[in-house]
Amino acid sequence: MRSDSKINLFEFDALPDGGSKGLTLPAEAGGSECFVVRKGERIFAYINRCPHTGAPLDWSPDQFLDADGSYIICAMHGALFEIETGRCIYGPCVNHSLEPLSVSIAGGMIMLKKNG
Ligand code: FES
Repeated sequence: MRSDSKINLFEFDALPDGGSKGLTLPAEAGGSECFVVRKGERIFAYINRCPHTGAPLDWSPDQFLDADGSYIICAMHGALFEIETGRCIYGPCVNHSLEPLSVSIAGGMIMLKKNG
């Protein structure tokens, strides 16, 4: 039988609208490097690994978006990814995607859904 559980990541209010934040998942969720993007009242999260070479995307801590905050950008070679889908729409890995994480907001916290 499969059980689903949720893990608290951090407070929703700690991430301003249009902001992004990198973090390391807790060991119980695999310990991967990932990042979260807020767009209005919605949250999106991905593993911090570019589908082009596997490198992390951020050029400096918590900077995952392009200059006007429209796309996720990889600092290495400039690939652009849709915030909502993680799909690359420009650069060397067009039509490849970031690996999404299942996140939600509950009780003011950003929660990661963990399947186990
Ligand atoms: S490593 Fe991300 S675009 Fe090349």
